Amino acid sequence: MSEPRHFLSLLDLSPEELDRLIDRAIELKRLQHAGTPHASLPGRVLGMIFEKSSTRTRVSFEAGMTQLGGSGMFLSSRDTQLGRGEPIEDTARVLSRMVDCIMIRTFEHEKVERFAEYSRVPVINGLTDLVHPCQLLADMQTYREHRGSIAGRTVAWVGDGNNMCHSYINAARQFDFRLRIACPEGFDPDPDILAAAGARCEILRDPMQAADGADLVVTDTWVSMGQEEEKAQRQAVFGAYKVTREMMAAAAPDALFMHCLPAYRGMEVEAEVLDAPDSVVWDEAENRLHAQKALLEFLLGAG
Ligand code: CP
Ligand code: NVA
Repeated sequence: MSEPRHFLSLLDLSPEELDRLIDRAIELKRLQHAGTPHASLPGRVLGMIFEKSSTRTRVSFEAGMTQLGGSGMFLSSRDTQLGRGEPIEDTARVLSRMVDCIMIRTFEHEKVERFAEYSRVPVINGLTDLVHPCQLLADMQTYREHRGSIAGRTVAWVGDGNNMCHSYINAARQFDFRLRIACPEGFDPDPDILAAAGARCEILRDPMQAADGADLVVTDTWVSMGQEEEKAQRQAVFGAYKVTREMMAAAAPDALFMHCLPAYRGMEVEAEVLDAPDSVVWDEAENRLHAQKALLEFLLGAG
């Protein structure tokens, strides 16, 4: 049995594979909007393990599998033996004999890596504390649709050096753009992930400086899942890192705004920025569906 390909991070696919995947995502979107059937994965089953909440990830994977002629199975750790202590390695061995692909959303990244090691079928990272690669497929598709290639462009990340920030750093490597990260001291991204990206990524403390002339401004919640107890402390520290209209005015004239959602209006982003015409957050959310359908086809050898 050949080793399956996994998608645990953006670095698991080559830049060429990522580009082709986005081409296919755009094509799948066209087919979907035209009402043209595109059942390339008939009878295939995706198991979806959620140890954290989700709206977009769950619905996009489940709807996507149905549209490709297969099905998605929601597995909450609360209702499976995983929640009662069955080891991840055993769960991986059992599930991967029954389904064709497995998506996991959990806390420790190492858990997804261990799951993949014991799985016979492709494993997709649906978000860990470390990275959120599926979101970046959608974000890169969205940028391409609105502004063409992101290669050589400048992206400003404003806020926490979190899982989304780490995935933007990896995307800067794979899609060849510059990334300015504006985060408060003590909330920097992982130094190894940052160092691996070399000179294309830099940390700035001043969000206005990061946004200056940027082609894309991106932010995320200040309080990620699992950090609920730090909420008050984080809100106090991150006050100056709200994406404002002034910040967007300092960016390039055709700059876009992105946010993976869910967004907290008035916290990390002003409501007026989120709801402005240069905000493409709803396209980003929709593209989770198309980009992940392209990913499923890629990993399952269809399309
Ligand atoms: N952006 C994102 O992953 O959303 P959900 O948490 O709703 O899946
Ligand atoms: N950084 C956020 C992203 C949610 C989609 C979190 O991990 O909760």
